[in-house]
Amino acid sequence: MGIYAMTGGATGIGGELRKQLVEAGHQVISVDIKEGDIIADLSTAEGRQAAVAGVTERAPDGLDGFIACAGLPPVARPLSLIAQVNYFAAVKTIEGLKDLVAKRRGTVLIVASNSAPMMPAENAFVEACLSGDEAAACAAVEQADGHTAYAGSKRAITMWMRRNVVAYAKAGVRLNAVAPGITQTPLTDQVFADEQLGQTMRDFQASVPWGGMASPAHIANVMRFMLSPEADFVCGSVFFVDGGSDAMLRPDAF
Ligand SMILES: NC(=O)c1ccc[n+]([C@@H]2O[C@H](COP(=O)([O-])OP(=O)(O)OC[C@H]3O[C@@H](n4cnc5c(N)ncnc54)[C@H](O)[C@@H]3O)[C@@H](O)[C@H]2O)c1
Repeated sequence: MGIYAMTGGATGIGGELRKQLVEAGHQVISVDIKEGDIIADLSTAEGRQAAVAGVTERAPDGLDGFIACAGLPPVARPLSLIAQVNYFAAVKTIEGLKDLVAKRRGTVLIVASNSAPMMPAENAFVEACLSGDEAAACAAVEQADGHTAYAGSKRAITMWMRRNVVAYAKAGVRLNAVAPGITQTPLTDQVFADEQLGQTMRDFQASVPWGGMASPAHIANVMRFMLSPEADFVCGSVFFVDGGSDAMLRPDAF
């Protein structure tokens, strides 16, 4: 059986994935700000270091996979927190755990979003993220709005993934992303409850071609496959699990 580490394993999509992996007999090391094997605030450099050190201590012989799932919604404030958790925490923990994953020719799976392509790559915040300058990215995002912060962070992490696929593959790590659409989780509840974004979210949900909303299990089922040996040649993919929304919005882009 495998050994996996993940962030954001306390609730929602991550909570469901952790449950499914454990039920399948795998060992899971969960890092989260709320509850888990390692409690760490990934918005901070200290929290990221504690996460990497804690996972390394618990899995000295390597990881079959690392899942960067922790994330904050567009209604989180200050907006810089969204940059810190959704983009920089993912990049820093992946970089810190890369060698451990390579030891087992394992997989890194990023939880992105189908909102990523909604933000152009030519955006000051996205560019600041990709330059690796956290202070500049936090300053840029404070001039923006919640949608730009969220979709921009997901655009940036997806681009980071694609740009690093070759180097990681050569090092023995498969890099991939899953891009969920609207999924019933505590994060989504916060957005639905928001005065400004709630109605936009309801309108978007009503437009989903397949209808309805994903459950965390819809997303976790696909993630479990992407982490498994059956997905051995899947490398650099952005797997949309969104009921057809991305294809509806960008039929010719893939
Ligand atoms: N729910 C959706 O509709 C949806 C759609 C697309 C993408 N996503 C992404 O899926 C991932 C999981 O989100 P979810 O919807 O399951 O929400 P969620 O709120 O249930 O889960 C997020 C997890 O991240 C953790 N977290 C938040 N801030 C943290 C911090 N500073 N340090 C450590 N852990 C922290 C939370 O404690 C929680 O366990 C996120 O990256 C989110 O952006 C969600």
